[in-house]
Amino acid sequence: MKDIVSISLSNGYLWKTQRKFFITHLRYFGEAKKGLEQSIQQECAFLCEAFKEERGPFDPQFYLNTAVSNIISALIFGHRFDYHDERFLNILRLDTEAIALAGSFQAHLYNVFPRLFDYIPGPHQKMFTNYGKIIEFLKDEVKRHKENWDPSDPRDYIDAFLVEMEKKKSDPEAGFNLDTLVLTSLDMFEAGTETLTSTLRWALLFLMKYPEIQKKVQAEIDRVIGQSRQPSLADRPNMPYTDAVIHETQRMSNILPLGFPKRACKDTTLGGYVIPKGTSMITNLSSVLYDKSEWETPDTFNPGHFLDEQGQFRKRDAFLPFSAGKRVCLGEQLARMELFLFLPFLLQRFTFSSGPGEELSLKGQVGFTNTPRPYRMCVMPR
Ligand code: HEM
Repeated sequence: MKDIVSISLSNGYLWKTQRKFFITHLRYFGEAKKGLEQSIQQECAFLCEAFKEERGPFDPQFYLNTAVSNIISALIFGHRFDYHDERFLNILRLDTEAIALAGSFQAHLYNVFPRLFDYIPGPHQKMFTNYGKIIEFLKDEVKRHKENWDPSDPRDYIDAFLVEMEKKKSDPEAGFNLDTLVLTSLDMFEAGTETLTSTLRWALLFLMKYPEIQKKVQAEIDRVIGQSRQPSLADRPNMPYTDAVIHETQRMSNILPLGFPKRACKDTTLGGYVIPKGTSMITNLSSVLYDKSEWETPDTFNPGHFLDEQGQFRKRDAFLPFSAGKRVCLGEQLARMELFLFLPFLLQRFTFSSGPGEELSLKGQVGFTNTPRPYRMCVMPR
């Protein structure tokens, strides 16, 4: 990749400072202001309205994409986008395409021979063109924020970052400048959108493939929440089956099997292997998520993996879809909130089935992420 100073692709002091800054922001806007759960619930309601308007089978990809990107947009830009906002939909299309292209053979070769592949045409060039357009869109947002910015009342990540830029003028190594603002926003926007869209698409796919599991989730929703109020995070401890289905979806879908590349910063010995300083490494999450010695039926969708004999939720050590260690996903809590709210909302209101005569495939398309193949679904109001 070209020189990028985002959180996922940086290290050292800048990475540490920027990661901490985003987490603090997430806590402040998510927890202190108690706004995040409400904004997810509001988005779930918009998504349900959009699904209700569909007549006949449709591909849920762009609705889900817009819905989850609206959550991260609210955190970064301070507002959501309408499902028919063509400019925003185009940004989402460019991003989905760029992520798929990042998994292409030429993009991998570019990472190895960047100077050479800078001059060779191919899908990696299209990927850079797409990112260029997305960056222009983000720059526009930053420009608009600067026009009516009140440092005493930051509305979102961009505002808070602009405040920090003033404070950290004497510490350029911390990366509080406009370029880093745009690239960390891109990082969050992308990481928070593509991952959740794919996970929700996998979840709906599994639920259509296994209607008996879908019925059991709906029965739990009816018993615990009913139809007269909306799902909330406080329901989670009382809904072990739904929680187990969400965890099993994440285990089976394994959407980021290889995480981000790493490099050993010192000579290290791991599991008896010597890893010299400077060695590039890639973690393989499939090795834990499908580990035959950890899971009873590693290759089968089985919510029972996360349930004890009394039907209560049980944690599993090998459940690591967000990876582990210092570089563990920093959006894990946000992602878990979103998954727990979006799915119960949808299943409280609808039953999902495949389009007539359409065979649902559980085979993924592995690029940078592991996404389901496009499918169409029918929604039946309950
Ligand atoms: C189902 C949803 C998600 C999954 C499965 C997921 C998974 C992962 C994984 C496997 C990593 C790589 C860790 C490594 O390289 O060892 C990662 C990193 C990261 N994720 Fe997520 N993620 C999800 C959602 C999110 C969300 C919502 C955000 C945005 C707030 C986010 C932001 C990031 C960032 C910034 C990193 C890089 C962290 C660093 O290098 O310090 N992710 N994620």
